[in-house]
Amino acid sequence: MEQVKVFLEESEIPQQWYNVLADMPTPMSPPLHPGTGKPVGPEDLAPVFPMNLIEQEVSTERWIDIPEDVLEKYLIWRPTPLYRARNFEKLLDAPVEIYYKHEGVSPPGSHKPNTAVAQAYYNKAFGVKRIATETGAGQWGSALSMACQMFGLECRVYMVRVSYEQKPYRRLMMATWGAECIPSPSDRTAAGKKILAEHPDSPGSLGIAISEAIEDAVADDRARYSLGSVLNHVLLHQTIVGQEAQRQLAKIGVYPDVVMGCAGGGSNFAGLCLPYVRDKIHGKKIAVVAAEPTSCPTMTKGPFAYDFGDTAQTTPLLAMHTLGHDFVPAPIHAGGLRYHGMAPIISHLVREKIIEPRAFDQIETFSAGIKWARAEGFISAPETNHVIAAVVQEAERAKEEGKKKVILFNWSGHGLVDLAAYDAFLSGELTRYELPDEEIERALKALEGFPKP
Ligand SMILES: Cc1ncc(COP(=O)(O)O)c(C=O)c1O
Repeated sequence: MEQVKVFLEESEIPQQWYNVLADMPTPMSPPLHPGTGKPVGPEDLAPVFPMNLIEQEVSTERWIDIPEDVLEKYLIWRPTPLYRARNFEKLLDAPVEIYYKHEGVSPPGSHKPNTAVAQAYYNKAFGVKRIATETGAGQWGSALSMACQMFGLECRVYMVRVSYEQKPYRRLMMATWGAECIPSPSDRTAAGKKILAEHPDSPGSLGIAISEAIEDAVADDRARYSLGSVLNHVLLHQTIVGQEAQRQLAKIGVYPDVVMGCAGGGSNFAGLCLPYVRDKIHGKKIAVVAAEPTSCPTMTKGPFAYDFGDTAQTTPLLAMHTLGHDFVPAPIHAGGLRYHGMAPIISHLVREKIIEPRAFDQIETFSAGIKWARAEGFISAPETNHVIAAVVQEAERAKEEGKKKVILFNWSGHGLVDLAAYDAFLSGELTRYELPDEEIERALKALEGFPKP
């Protein structure tokens, strides 16, 4: 019988996170204070994040120990299995071997708890009592709700309204784990009220929900804010995924030609790929591909510029690929990929041509996801379907070139509570959607007058 899964023993779980900042080929542009235009210092961030996470955000240590208490929680679902997608390979009939990390085995069903548990731990250790956050598709909100419950913290989640309406089961998961979930824009914050006054029917956006959560946290001394993607420390916590994959593939003597992930803010992509980016920086020949939606083409169409991480302009200015902080994407069904920006680390590596971004239309991604489900059984999150579309594309290229390729990708989550999206696709309601250039030009006007990286 041919092997399908590779496991690690619990004792083989990586004990450190990998920090790519130690290996960056060129220096990154620092986050700037919007008032002074100078790099932000730890004190500027102190009302928003606990100091132990701020220290991690700016650390350039290559390896950072994972605390015992975090490892103990990780062991509930980690190490996650590495699979070979033999049935999908047969279906594609191309000269490819396809491996994937199954991050859908975590209790909420995605990679998000890898950082949620770590962030809840550090907040608790710092004496924080409550965490406020935003969520797009609901995966992050549910992961943080679970993590806060594990460490005895209160949790309040601002959920992008369109997802709140499309995904009742996600908010019920949050409630089950004891969190409060509020549709955003809401009338709980000045940022939310302002948007509602201008656009009473606003579907919301991650940028708006982030503004609400930050405002909420900063107004309460017992509370801090937490972000599920984009920031350096979030990407850091996810690197356990790629390190496990490296150990699993080493067991069967395989090294990939291509590593891939879907990218919203960049965290699951980074988690799998940054340990391989390290190899690439040190000379390995490997392609690193990030898949994003054509409806929110941050890396493929947005410039590399200084911009705010949120709509109300409360964050520092980050050097990243962006569509403008007031960008409101179409309400497509891959909620977690609808963020106007991209992690500064990923943006920098795209600029350095170490990472190659590609955009996929929602019809392509759902077609790929349906093929996947019919061959491999697992139903993917709509976000994850973007990387599956990239795998299909890569297999077609391998066929054309007649070259054998080993592909590794991050199966970032299951779609069992996203079936309304599958319903929309299967009943022919979804249409192709590419963001028009005029819309991009309009969104980018928001960047005029900002410093340039
Ligand atoms: C299953 C899944 N994959 C991917 C993403 C995109 O986020 P990121 O780019 O931070 O991994 C999300 C976000 O909600 C998600 O839920």
